[in-house]
Amino acid sequence: MKRIFINETPNKIGEKVRVCGWIQTVRTHGKIIFFDLRDKTGIIQIVVMPNKEFFEQAKEVRSEWVVAIEGTVNQRPQNMVNDKIETGKVEMLAEGLEIFSKAETLPFPIDTDGYDIDEEKRLTYRYLDLRRSRLKRNLTERHRVISFMRQFLTKENFIEVETPMLTKSTPEGARDFVVPARIQPGKFYALPQSPQQYKQLLMVAGIERYFQVARCLRDEDPRSDRQAEHTQLDVEMSFASQEEILDLAERLFTSLVKELYPEKTITQTPFPRMTYKEAQERYGTDKPDLRKNKNDPNELAFCFIVDFPMFEWLSGDKKWNAMHHPFTLPKCDDPEQIKAHPEEIYAYQQDMALNGFEIFSGSIRNTNMDTFTAVFEVTGHAPEEVRKEFKHYFEAFSYGVPPHGGMAPGIDRFLSVIMNEPNIREVIAFPKTGDNRDLMLGSPAEIEESRLKELHIRTEIPKAADKQ
Ligand code: AMO
Repeated sequence: MKRIFINETPNKIGEKVRVCGWIQTVRTHGKIIFFDLRDKTGIIQIVVMPNKEFFEQAKEVRSEWVVAIEGTVNQRPQNMVNDKIETGKVEMLAEGLEIFSKAETLPFPIDTDGYDIDEEKRLTYRYLDLRRSRLKRNLTERHRVISFMRQFLTKENFIEVETPMLTKSTPEGARDFVVPARIQPGKFYALPQSPQQYKQLLMVAGIERYFQVARCLRDEDPRSDRQAEHTQLDVEMSFASQEEILDLAERLFTSLVKELYPEKTITQTPFPRMTYKEAQERYGTDKPDLRKNKNDPNELAFCFIVDFPMFEWLSGDKKWNAMHHPFTLPKCDDPEQIKAHPEEIYAYQQDMALNGFEIFSGSIRNTNMDTFTAVFEVTGHAPEEVRKEFKHYFEAFSYGVPPHGGMAPGIDRFLSVIMNEPNIREVIAFPKTGDNRDLMLGSPAEIEESRLKELHIRTEIPKAADKQ
């Protein structure tokens, strides 16, 4: 018999069906056994009567065993209805039991929200942690949000294009993860911090409207809103002004909230806008939390920040750095002015904040190679170095480049706000720990000496690291 999902059972009263899943709980009342059976869609109560030939087998069954049950769906007596669950009006009278696999006692309970369980333990057994309904819901919501974004942008004439994972360093402000190139001894690929350069080159290619649900990798210290791997809804548009990019973002997020989360309210539309300076003066941050009631889990306060300074002074390194990234268009087309007074130069950067979190950064891109070079000079790179490092930009932009710009909302951050989660690990299927380890697979890990040799790599572990 074909298996049906548990949430379909209320429509099958009086019918014989087959359901499959995990045993959540086992109870006995007199001689009758009750199972709560769980699948991805819900939980149903199963009744096993002692006169069944599989009753002895049913007595052995324990929590988390994986089984199939065939039986008849019945309406529960009025006084036995469980209003808390969708399938609370029905139960199944078991007529057949098939055991697929048994289960050891789990290392932690999975029928709670799990916040109080040691996170290292949860991450070591993440496949069990994900059985928890809160995390299953988070993954399901993540899928719904990403599907909505894909459909929305497809309707707006964007196409999704995949860009390489084995790439070259792009200055996005973090360290690169590097991958040794076996066939090019001594050379390394960088994993993408974002598809920034590729998406701009797709604009030169005439794609005009690009997006990608893009994996981005940055070797930085994780925080509650930062992971070594994160996912962006990476977007780039040709012939679009900053206004058009903000308009697209506003329509995307308002329609997403309206369709997927009608119980939530957006504090203000059109989204309030302010300059970087205003935000700093009024709120002391460039990602202000504009909620009217910060205790309301259903309030979403979006806002746009524009007019960022092009550069920021890194007092530790005693050097200028591009505030967003160096591909951003400065609001000054005089290279000499940029070099002489970097502190006075503003940029066509646009950010969106939500409830105090930066959800995206974006900008109009610089296609003027004179000011492009000047920006890199301010950040400490000689013009010859820039021309060599970005030879592909200089060349590509010499063959007809449209004005273009874009944005990249962080999907993990957006989800954690929407789901009211305290950190982004709760909305990622397999996140890393605070020191970038995957406790489940045990990575990073040493690799065999023969592999290192093949890659022409010799490792020297400093003494201090040895002791850790
Ligand atoms: P940026 O570096 O600002 O811009 O990143 C865009 C958005 O991605 C999210 N984000 C992260 N989320 C989780 N963990 C991280 N380590 C992490 N880093 C960034 C944030 C952030 O706002 N290429 C440009 C975008 C552009 O100019 O179009 C970029 O990557 O939500």
